[in-house]
Amino acid sequence: MNKYLVIGNPIEHSLSPLLHNYWFKKYGILDSIYEKRKVDKKDLKEIVESVKKGDIKGVNVTVPFKSEILNYIDSFPNEVQKTKSVNTLIKENDKVVGYNTDQGGFEISLSVNNWNKKNKKILILGAGGVAPSILSSFIKKDGASKVYLCNRTRNKAEELKKHWDAAADSCGMLKNTIEVVDWEKKIELCDLVINTTSVGLSVDENINFDFDHYDNNKNVLFYDLIYNPKETNFLKNAKQRGNKIMNGKLMFLWQAQLAFKMWTGVSPEINDEVINLLS
Ligand SMILES: NC(=O)c1ccc[n+]([C@@H]2O[C@H](COP(=O)([O-])OP(=O)(O)OC[C@H]3O[C@@H](n4cnc5c(N)ncnc54)[C@H](OP(=O)(O)O)[C@@H]3O)[C@@H](O)[C@H]2O)c1
Repeated sequence: MNKYLVIGNPIEHSLSPLLHNYWFKKYGILDSIYEKRKVDKKDLKEIVESVKKGDIKGVNVTVPFKSEILNYIDSFPNEVQKTKSVNTLIKENDKVVGYNTDQGGFEISLSVNNWNKKNKKILILGAGGVAPSILSSFIKKDGASKVYLCNRTRNKAEELKKHWDAAADSCGMLKNTIEVVDWEKKIELCDLVINTTSVGLSVDENINFDFDHYDNNKNVLFYDLIYNPKETNFLKNAKQRGNKIMNGKLMFLWQAQLAFKMWTGVSPEINDEVINLLS
């Protein structure tokens, strides 16, 4: 039996087992099972060793270990070097390699919604493990005109900006697009506001920003990377204000599709049936 895992803490919210097991069945890959496991930092080494030994065939890594896991794997491609974030492990030539499919999943989720980033103003909330993958999507050439980056712990956002500004020239990125702003500061109207924090994973959690100036603005998209619960307070409030909303379901589906293809060689179809599976 080929074993796959999603690891994180918390992990209860993860719908990865439901999705991957559905795809295993749909595509006749019947000798495979995908499970979730709540882990601590001390368990990461052992998980990577299990992939190396072949006891686990593939792993998805989620909150809060996407950066930490880099310390235990053997190698990773260039885009991981840039984002310092890994969400997919696979064994290749006796080495455990870490990939980032979040970035691709996020970009596809916007493009299938016909959302074009060119010359747009973006507000990104959060500077944790997934934030670099989101940030990097906007500072490519032909990207956003401005990216406001805002994190409760401000210095993490400063570090992220420093990293990208330094790397910009060598990786063909736009320079000086990012401005770090204080948490909960009222910021000028943006075209896209993205919650990349984990605030909202518990249903009663709230992000206490003043978004009153977005009232009745139908053009602004509020995007929460969280997909379970499917409507966080961040999205509920935006809907009440009359803004467009989107949760992390499509990003989740597309990042999962990219990982599934790496592990099995099969590229599963993203259709209404699979979208509804996660409702
Ligand atoms: N849809 C998808 O496919 C997808 C993919 C990846 C991630 N996600 C979601 O994205 C979220 C973040 O993931 P991650 O890997 O970046 O997590 P992470 O590394 O643990 O980072 C958590 C972020 O949330 C902030 N935060 C936590 N509690 C807070 C609070 N009470 N007030 C303000 N900020 C707070 C942290 O700020 P500090 O730095 O100040 O602690 C940090 O910026 C999770 O909800 C995850 O489920 C979704």
